[in-house]
Amino acid sequence: IPAATDLHVHLRDWTQAEKETVESGTKSALAGGVTTVADMPNTVPKLETAELVAARVQLLRDRSFVDFAIHAAPPVEPSELKKIRRAGAFALKLYPPDLPSFRRLLKGASRAGLKMAVHAEDEKMLAGDRSPDAELVAVRKVLGEVGPRSQVRFAHLSTSEAAHAVLAKKQSHPGLTIEVAPHHLFMDSRTSVARIGEASRVNPQLRSQANSRVMRGLLKEGCFDFYATDHAPHTLKDKLTKGAPGFPGLELALPLFLTRTENVPLLCRMFCEAPAAYLGTKKGKISPGYSADLVVLSRRRWRIDPEKFVSKARVTPFGGEEMRFAIDQVFMRGSTVYREGRFVTQPARLVR
Ligand code: DOR
Ligand code: ZN
Repeated sequence: IPAATDLHVHLRDWTQAEKETVESGTKSALAGGVTTVADMPNTVPKLETAELVAARVQLLRDRSFVDFAIHAAPPVEPSELKKIRRAGAFALKLYPPDLPSFRRLLKGASRAGLKMAVHAEDEKMLAGDRSPDAELVAVRKVLGEVGPRSQVRFAHLSTSEAAHAVLAKKQSHPGLTIEVAPHHLFMDSRTSVARIGEASRVNPQLRSQANSRVMRGLLKEGCFDFYATDHAPHTLKDKLTKGAPGFPGLELALPLFLTRTENVPLLCRMFCEAPAAYLGTKKGKISPGYSADLVVLSRRRWRIDPEKFVSKARVTPFGGEEMRFAIDQVFMRGSTVYREGRFVTQPARLVR
C-alpha cells in the first residue's frame, strides 16, 4: 500500500527531549509506515514566531527521518503571519485558548496562505471532567464563523454529536474537513481506565463505548476525511504525576485500523491519499508521477508491546492487543528506509 501521511504529530524535542526527539519520533513514524508527518506547534517554546518556525524547519531538516510539514501557533503580532508562512509553516493550529479570536485568525491565515487546524473544545467548559459538550459548543462556534470557502480542519473530533454538526455544514462548506484519531475510534474511557488507570488522560478525552461505536459507524460510511494519530508522547512520570494528556500512536495506528476494520481501501484513502493531497504532495497513491513511498504489509500476528516502541513514550491503552497486520518494510522515494527494525536516513523534505 502507499505509505501514510500523518497530519497530527507532536515531535517535541528542544526542552522536551525526554518525552520525544525529532529522531525518536520520526523513526517511530517509519516503523508505523508513515513517511510524512505534520508537526504540532505546542512545543516549548511554542512555535509562534517566524524565527522559531525557521529554527524548527532547520531542526527537522537535520534530524527527521521522514518528510515533514509544520503547523505554527497564532502569533501575538498579526503581521507575523506572512513571515511565518515564508519561514515554512503550512498551517496555523488553534488550541482552545485561541478560539475566541477564531474569526480574526482565520482571516489572517487565509490572507497569508496558511491553512488552519482547530482543536475545538470550549476552554471555559474544560474545568473538571472536560464534558463532551465542550467539543460541541466549540465546534458550533467555529461553524458559525466560517465562510463557504473557508479551509478549516477539525483536529481529532471525538464525539458523534460534533461530527454530525460538521457533516451537516460540510454540505455547503466543502473546505471543512474532519480528522479522527485511533483512540477515539477504537478505544473507550472505561476500557482504558481498566488497563492503564490514571494514565488514560488525553485531550479530547476518551468517551463512552456507545460514542466510539457511532464514530466507527460514521467511519465506515466514509464520513471522515483524515485518520491522524495525535501522537502525543509523554514520559510515564509526567503521565502519572502531572496528568499529562496524550498517547504515542505512530507505531500502532496503521495495523490497528486494518485489524479492526479489515478495510484497506478506507485506510488508504484516509491515512494515505487524502492527507497527502491536503498537503499538496505527490504521495499516497501507487500511480505514475507519484513518489514511491510504500509500505509492505504482512498478515503476521503480533502483540502491541509499548516497551518495544521506537518512540520514547510508552503509555498506551492499546498495549497487549493482538494485531493481524504487520509492517515489514517501508520505502521512501523508491529506497528502503525501514526494514526489520532497522532505519536508513534519507534527506527529509519540507512540505509547504
Ligand atoms: O492529549 C493531548 N495531548 N491533547 C492536546 O491537545 C495536546 C497533546 C500534547 O501535546 O500532549
Ligand atoms: Zn495534538
